[in-house]
Amino acid sequence: MALWGGRFSQAADAKFQQFNDSLRFDYRLAEQDIVGSIAWSNALCKAGVLNSDEQQKIELALNELKAKVLADPSQILQSDAEDIHSWVEGQLINVVGDLGKKLHTGRSRNDQVATDLKLWCKQQVPVLLGKIDELQKQLVTVARQQQATVLPGYTHLQRAQPVTFAHWCLAYVEMLDRDFTRLQDAHKRMDTCPLGSGALAGTGFPIDRHELALSLDFAAPTRNSLDSVSDRDHVLELMNCAVNSMMHLSRFAEDLIFYNSGEAGFIELSDRVTSGSSLMPQKKNPDSLELIRGKTGRVFGAYAGMMMTLKALPLAYNKDMQEDKEGLFDALDTWYDCLDMAEMVLHDLKLNEEKTREAAQGGYSNATEMADYLVSKGIPFREAHHIVGAIVVHAIAKKLPMEELPLSDFKEFSPLIEDDVFGRLSLESSLASRCALGGVAPDQIEFALTQTEQRLSQRG
Ligand code: ARG
Repeated sequence: MALWGGRFSQAADAKFQQFNDSLRFDYRLAEQDIVGSIAWSNALCKAGVLNSDEQQKIELALNELKAKVLADPSQILQSDAEDIHSWVEGQLINVVGDLGKKLHTGRSRNDQVATDLKLWCKQQVPVLLGKIDELQKQLVTVARQQQATVLPGYTHLQRAQPVTFAHWCLAYVEMLDRDFTRLQDAHKRMDTCPLGSGALAGTGFPIDRHELALSLDFAAPTRNSLDSVSDRDHVLELMNCAVNSMMHLSRFAEDLIFYNSGEAGFIELSDRVTSGSSLMPQKKNPDSLELIRGKTGRVFGAYAGMMMTLKALPLAYNKDMQEDKEGLFDALDTWYDCLDMAEMVLHDLKLNEEKTREAAQGGYSNATEMADYLVSKGIPFREAHHIVGAIVVHAIAKKLPMEELPLSDFKEFSPLIEDDVFGRLSLESSLASRCALGGVAPDQIEFALTQTEQRLSQRG
């Protein structure tokens, strides 16, 4: 049943209908549309448009419809209704007859779709928060297991200074913490109810919009009807949360892809999250991680697309805005799946401690430690940096790690270098010396882990 038609003398072209209809994707808003319609029927009853008997009949029929839809959402797709709003109204009229035709009094699909989508967005927040939280907890579990496992730290993908695997895990916990609070912030701003804004200018019936907003679990009604029906900031903000978090997940994936490479060999991924090559029998590919990295592009694209769609749209509702849903649904589904997959990958991750240690030891990554040693002997840092640079060139020429140079060689670069230098060049010493807050010294890692565990457990 089309919701309009009085003004038309010709039927819409089938091709146009196909182009215009949104049921194939907005069927996902069925529950929100029904819940919103029940709330609206109550508001109409209080405004004297429906009597309470009529309202109860409508509510009963809508509740039955909700149960049917929740049991099997795919039945909606059998219909040729234009969109989910037409479908719900049509179903209601099928059950309660002409009474159902009163429901749309004072309401427009413009404030209706804005409300449905906001309700849907709000409901995604706890689901995604829960998933971020799970991944963070998994990272902390791995960090505890690998608290002392040494890992080379990189800048420019060159071995820079040693870190620990726990420190690496905790870096991602921090990123996910920002994703978590970003989502909480977004939720605060999407907590206003557009229903009762009509098509654009407000509703013509005495609706108590405060009560209506609260009945739909919103903190307050929106304040301006023009803005209410045109606003899709909540869609953008949620997608932005997804974009930021996917950026983090793709860096996580990239790090692990590199650690998993034959060249690094730091980790082994479980068979459960890898796949083989159809041609090369020896291969075990990190597809789970590559897909996280790959799907990041798709989420970025959806976000950029949404920005383009909304850019320069005149107030108020325009059909362009129907394009808000597919990208949003896809971006959030993808984000959820990637959070899930990242957790799976971590769950069965194996570390090759011999390899990580060997790599952390090599690449002259104790050069900063050597410079700090010279500073402790009274040499200004800039000068120390220069001296160590020359020592590194010398060690490379002799094909020796710095700590294997004889003391006599060191003395040629500075007479202040003594026997105690060798203790300072060990991995343990490099780690222990980074002892300020946020560094890799063992007691700092212990402190960070304890704090993080506490913070995460307080979330519940
Ligand atoms: N299917 C539409 C959408 O998703 C619903 C709103 C239609 N409103 C209108 N005035 N045509 O945006």
